[in-house]
Amino acid sequence: MKDKVTIHSLKRFKQIGQKICMVTAYDATFAHILDQSGADVLLVGDSLGMVVQGHDSTLPVTMDQMVYHSAAVTRGARRAHVVGDLPFLSYQVSAHEAVRNAGRLVTEGGVGSVKLEGGAEFADVVRAIVRASIPVMGHLGLTPQSVHKMGGYVVQGRDEEQARKILDDALALEAAGAYALVLEGVPLELARTITQSLSIPTIGIGAGRYCDGQVLVCYDLLGMNPDFKPKFVKRYANLHGSITEAAGAFFTEIRQGAFPDEDHSFKASKSIRLVAPAALGAGKALEGEVASPAEGEEKVGPVYGIPV
Ligand code: KIV
Repeated sequence: MKDKVTIHSLKRFKQIGQKICMVTAYDATFAHILDQSGADVLLVGDSLGMVVQGHDSTLPVTMDQMVYHSAAVTRGARRAHVVGDLPFLSYQVSAHEAVRNAGRLVTEGGVGSVKLEGGAEFADVVRAIVRASIPVMGHLGLTPQSVHKMGGYVVQGRDEEQARKILDDALALEAAGAYALVLEGVPLELARTITQSLSIPTIGIGAGRYCDGQVLVCYDLLGMNPDFKPKFVKRYANLHGSITEAAGAFFTEIRQGAFPDEDHSFKASKSIRLVAPAALGAGKALEGEVASPAEGEEKVGPVYGIPV
């Protein structure tokens, strides 16, 4: 196994011009696959509120849910650095609460760092979390937790004034101790200027090619939802099609009686003759020889396909 990725590796990647590969994960099975595929960073994004829970925003996601999913992802990851999102209202109320909640993601969720949305107005919060020895990743531009303030999921930083504010926020987050920055939904020229202005890495989503790394929601890049095709998403697979086909074949075989066949069924260790109760006369005992548990024992291993 290659060395575990740390926040220091990510800084080094920027220095040597090696692009950072980040992707979201919400459970152990996906974390295991994505880790083995070469992800440097797995983000337990609060996007899970939309793609896992079916909400139309990330706002309903709770701390308990983030802890639950973070713990699942860290159990599946080996090499990748795992980042846990601080959900809406878990860090906005006070620096004190922010440190407690960031601490929960580390102690209960097992993550190596946390991410929060917002700029200079959260510099004190970033400072407080970093002071508690918890690394912080910032998130600027289109920040989904501010959907109501933005008036929808709208590209940010298109005009001079907005662009200047985002650049200033980026500098403020770096000065506050953030170790990396997600830039979401901003023009590529702005992302390039920010990337060149910072010593910490930038990771883009809908922010163009000049960022130090890229991130996408795993379900988006894998093509799980054919109805969701924003400009910034590239689909690398059609899992919606593959899953529909595979599940459809399973249901067809069940209906036809083709599954389970002999190969997918257990056998008793020696022949037994059992008579169904309905076929017995009243009060008549079962006839035949039944394999003892010891004789009939057959190890199945884990009952579900958990990652190893
Ligand atoms: O919640 C999330 O998944 C994110 C990424 C898309 C950057 O914040």
